Amino acid sequence: MSGAVLELPTDHPGFSDPDYIERRNLIAELSTSAVLGARPPVVEYTPTENEVWSTVNAALSALHGDYAVAEYRHAAALLELPGDRVPQLVDVSDRLIELSGWRLCAVPGLVSTAEFFSALADRCFPSSQYVRHASVPFYTPEPDVIHELIGHANSLASPRIAALYERAGQVAGRLTDPRLADLLGRVFWFTLEFGLAFEDGVQRTYGAGLLSSFGEITHFREADLRPFDTEAMGRFDDYEISTFQEVLFTAASFDDAEARLLRFFDELTRA
Ligand SMILES: [Fe+2]
Repeated sequence: MSGAVLELPTDHPGFSDPDYIERRNLIAELSTSAVLGARPPVVEYTPTENEVWSTVNAALSALHGDYAVAEYRHAAALLELPGDRVPQLVDVSDRLIELSGWRLCAVPGLVSTAEFFSALADRCFPSSQYVRHASVPFYTPEPDVIHELIGHANSLASPRIAALYERAGQVAGRLTDPRLADLLGRVFWFTLEFGLAFEDGVQRTYGAGLLSSFGEITHFREADLRPFDTEAMGRFDDYEISTFQEVLFTAASFDDAEARLLRFFDELTRA
C-alpha cells in the first residue's frame, strides 16, 4: 500500500483541499512503512491540527461528566491525555501498557474486520494518526486520531473494558461461520462503539463512537432506545458508520453490559 494516494468521497470536508489530502497521504505513509505491531511512528503535528485536538478534546471532556459511564471517566482520568496538543500514539501506548497491558498500533486508515479483530486478540488497537479537516472540527466521517484516542484509548485504560475488546478479538479468531463473524461485528458496533448503560438515573454511554462524537453524545438519549439484546443487534443490516445511529441498545448498568457481553462471547465460542 506504500505510495497509495488517498481518494476522499465528494462529500468529505477535505475533498477539495489538496493540502489536506497531501497531509493525509504523508501521515498514512508513515504508518504504512511500519509493520503492524511495531511502535507507532512520531507525527509532527501542525499548530492547526493541535488546535483541532484542543477544541474537540475540551468540548468532549466537559460533556463526559454528564454522558459517560463512570468506568470510562475513571479510565480517562488515569490516561490523562494532554489538552494542548495531539498526543503521540507512542506515548499513549506506553501509558496504556502500564494501565491495562494494551498497545496502540499505527494504521493508515480503516483496516479489514479480520485484521482489526486479530489485532485486538493481540491486545493491540489499530489507530489512525491523521486529524479530521479543520473546517469542521466537530465532525469526521472516518475514525481519525481524535476518535481513536478519546473513544478507544481512554476506554482501553480500563482493564475491564480492555478485557471485552480482547475477548472479542479471541472469539473472532475462532469463528469459521461467516454469519457468526458478521454477528460479532454488529454486536461490537452496538456495544463497544455505541452501547448505552443506565447509571445514576440516566442513560450513559460506554461506546467509543459516542464518547468521541460531539454531535452524537448529547443526542443519544433521544434515539430509539432498545433493551440490550445481541440477537436484535444481529438483525440490523443497515448500520452505517458515517451517519447518526437512530437505534441504540441499552443495558441496565455497565456491569450488566459487561456480563451480557461476556456471556455472548462464551456462547459464540461454543457455537
Ligand atoms: Fe471506533
